[in-house]
Amino acid sequence: MDADAKKRAAAIAALALVEDGTFVGVGTGSTVNHFIDALAARRRHIAGAVASSEASASRLRAAGIELAALNDTGDLPLYVDGADEATRHLQLLKGGGGALTREKILAAASRRFVCIIDDSKLVPVLGRFPLPVEVIPMARSLVARKLVRLGGQPVYREGFTTDNGNVILDVHNLRITDPAALEAEIGLLPGVVCVGLFARRPADQLLVAGAQGVQTITR
Ligand code: 5RP
Repeated sequence: MDADAKKRAAAIAALALVEDGTFVGVGTGSTVNHFIDALAARRRHIAGAVASSEASASRLRAAGIELAALNDTGDLPLYVDGADEATRHLQLLKGGGGALTREKILAAASRRFVCIIDDSKLVPVLGRFPLPVEVIPMARSLVARKLVRLGGQPVYREGFTTDNGNVILDVHNLRITDPAALEAEIGLLPGVVCVGLFARRPADQLLVAGAQGVQTITR
């Protein structure tokens, strides 16, 4: 089974958690794209979707799924999203697709956050994947210098602007032994909009697809 087939299996498993008549929060990325495709078949049964990115909003719209704004829906019963890395403690590293800020907003606004991944992304310690940090453009070099002082090697994601009009620094070579502490520390740097660590509000459930099927890890 290749990685894409595993992503699809995790996405289909998440579909069973969507309750009729409710709004569902929808993340961003290739795994979530499978979820959107599967959700299309249920579109008449759900109230609608709140998207974490313009890319997911377009795909949802094309699938005929009603879009809603978080300011109108209030808290969501369910948010489904992928991740770049996850631990068995359900702490996540996200933002490879650059949608981390809106993803963190939806995670915070949701009663249940279900993360769907293939098993290559389950790691003992976060940080092999470069940590994305969304930054206000004028603070890019200031934040980069501060990240170097924290032991990382920030790389400017050239040619990429987030849906919020900001830039991304991908921080290499961090071994993240205390994700919640690092999330708070980087999050407080002036100019940082969002850091792609989801440790203070981790996932509630991980659906990990492997060759043997989909494993559920719950808090
Ligand atoms: C986007 C994300 C994605 O969830 C993450 O990059 C995983 O993407 P994919 O499902 O394509 O592997 O955080 O900002």
